[in-house]
Amino acid sequence: MADIEPFHVVVLIARAKELEAAGHSIVNMVVGEPDAPVADAIAQAGIRAIQAGQVRYTAGLGMPLLRDAIAGWYRSCYGVDVPAGRIGVTPGSSGSLLLTMGVLLSPGDEVLMTDPGYPCNRHFVRTMEGRAVGIPVGADTAYQLTAERVERHWSPRTRAVMLASPSNPTGTLIDFEELRAIHALVRERGGTLIVDEIYHGLTYGAKDRTVLEFADDVFVINSFSKYFGMTGWRLGWVVAPQAFMPDIEKLAQNLFISPSELAQHAAMAAFSPDAVAVHEQRRDAFRAQRDFLLPRLEALGFGIPVRPDGAFYLYADCSRFTTDSYAWCHELLEQAGVAIAPGIDFGAYRAETHVRFSYPKPIPVLAEGIARLERYLA
Ligand SMILES: Cc1ncc(COP(=O)(O)O)c(C=O)c1O
Repeated sequence: MADIEPFHVVVLIARAKELEAAGHSIVNMVVGEPDAPVADAIAQAGIRAIQAGQVRYTAGLGMPLLRDAIAGWYRSCYGVDVPAGRIGVTPGSSGSLLLTMGVLLSPGDEVLMTDPGYPCNRHFVRTMEGRAVGIPVGADTAYQLTAERVERHWSPRTRAVMLASPSNPTGTLIDFEELRAIHALVRERGGTLIVDEIYHGLTYGAKDRTVLEFADDVFVINSFSKYFGMTGWRLGWVVAPQAFMPDIEKLAQNLFISPSELAQHAAMAAFSPDAVAVHEQRRDAFRAQRDFLLPRLEALGFGIPVRPDGAFYLYADCSRFTTDSYAWCHELLEQAGVAIAPGIDFGAYRAETHVRFSYPKPIPVLAEGIARLERYLA
């Protein structure tokens, strides 16, 4: 337990709530979820499920109907055939990450991952007695891994490599050819590639491409939390190589019994044309919010060397203002009424000179945040 760190930002969020309760207004750009309510079609399906008493356990890896629907989503979005039997539905993609590490790792096995990256990953690895190895990444590789870097950090104990595209906290995408090269290298070395595609659907340039287009020996993590806007319903999925499915199922039954039946019925509606129309509209709004915030932060003196083409985060260099971004985030909260996440939550590499803005907020809210920062920095 000594190796499991809390989210540093939790302290900040608690303080922001305290300030709000005391009547202060806080522009909150910390939490990685949109403000907007879930699409009505999803909410209605959830209400119908409650009324019909569909609030029981289901099969350990989810209802067959939902697994089929996810397979259908792969066909319609990407033109890729993924058998439903290789899809496991879990409590959030957090459940999928835990299962993935559980079936892959033996004590002491190493998992290579980006630094900065999603903070929980190293803790999932540690929970399963593995060792997370952060590979420092910067603007030169769009904060993503390259085959060359993976090769440089490979050790006899390396078991897996994991990456996220679009990434949290940087919002950047991996080049698809580089992804192929990483996959080829990992395969040649006898390891396993894990690709977190949880921010798919929230990309603002090229169409999403899944690693499943060319590989079936990988683990893919995805979720109803982000594009589908269902964070609190706690539902995600993993696509795994067929040979791992019995172990995944066995572990899922033991850890979770099953994902929530209610959430699964609601999620069935997430693929309906009505819900997808809402999600697409929302994606366009996120893009507009990014386009609003990014140049204004740059004008204030933040460094954002790679334009993020996905997710809803801006990872900004704040070295013009501080060399202790954690203390500075607290200062901003107390003195400017603006809450953002310090780099330390995402790793160690240059963490003290970086902060993350989470921007899925109405533009007037973002404008107020910018105005407050401007006044404070002046
Ligand atoms: C990159 C990444 N992976 C996984 C998760 C876990 O999300 P959930 O458990 O809601 O699916 C998050 C949440 O923010 C994330 O940013």
